[in-house]
Amino acid sequence: MTRLAIFVSGNGSNMENIVHYIRDKYSHSIEVSCIISDNKEAYAFVRAASLSIPCVHLRKEELVSPSVLLPLLSQYKVDRIILAGYLRLISSFLIDAYPNKILNIHPALLPKYGGRGMYGMHVHKAVCEAGEKETGITIHEIDAEYDKGKIIFQATTTVSSLDTPDTIAEKVHSLEYQYFPRVIVQWIQGKL
Ligand code: GRF
Repeated sequence: MTRLAIFVSGNGSNMENIVHYIRDKYSHSIEVSCIISDNKEAYAFVRAASLSIPCVHLRKEELVSPSVLLPLLSQYKVDRIILAGYLRLISSFLIDAYPNKILNIHPALLPKYGGRGMYGMHVHKAVCEAGEKETGITIHEIDAEYDKGKIIFQATTTVSSLDTPDTIAEKVHSLEYQYFPRVIVQWIQGKL
């Protein structure tokens, strides 16, 4: 059984989508054993409760403390970590403990529109203002810098002059929901 921790900071719609996909098709070999959030107000807590998955809020000083985070992940027998709308930088001790075992999704075509401050609507506004003809999602393993690391998968969608940051966000979210769960499973299976 491969056990996942999903790190979230906000809404948690990707987290919920991933859980449903895994429970529907891969419950015999993969489970989400815990959700971790840096934001105690995150709606992801509501979603985790309805999914009966333990959801732990950690303060920022706890998230950067190996003596807090690593035992917690061991308690839940976590093999791999998924960042789904998680906004904090991952500490190097966590990358060392989970080498090539941490996967992130970014709502743009990295390396463009990545890095510090580039998250959520900030990304879609920048894409819109730049007059880009396409955008998309990037799923990548993480290293110590924001939004760097080996790109595992990208999917694109067109952007027209009629698009707004909100309509771009909608297009990108549908790519996330369509591909992220499948890419996670293939990554676990060593197919990507
Ligand atoms: C998604 O757009 C994802 O690409 C980005 O943060 C957002 C998370 O949304 N990393 P949600 O919390 O999963 O609804």
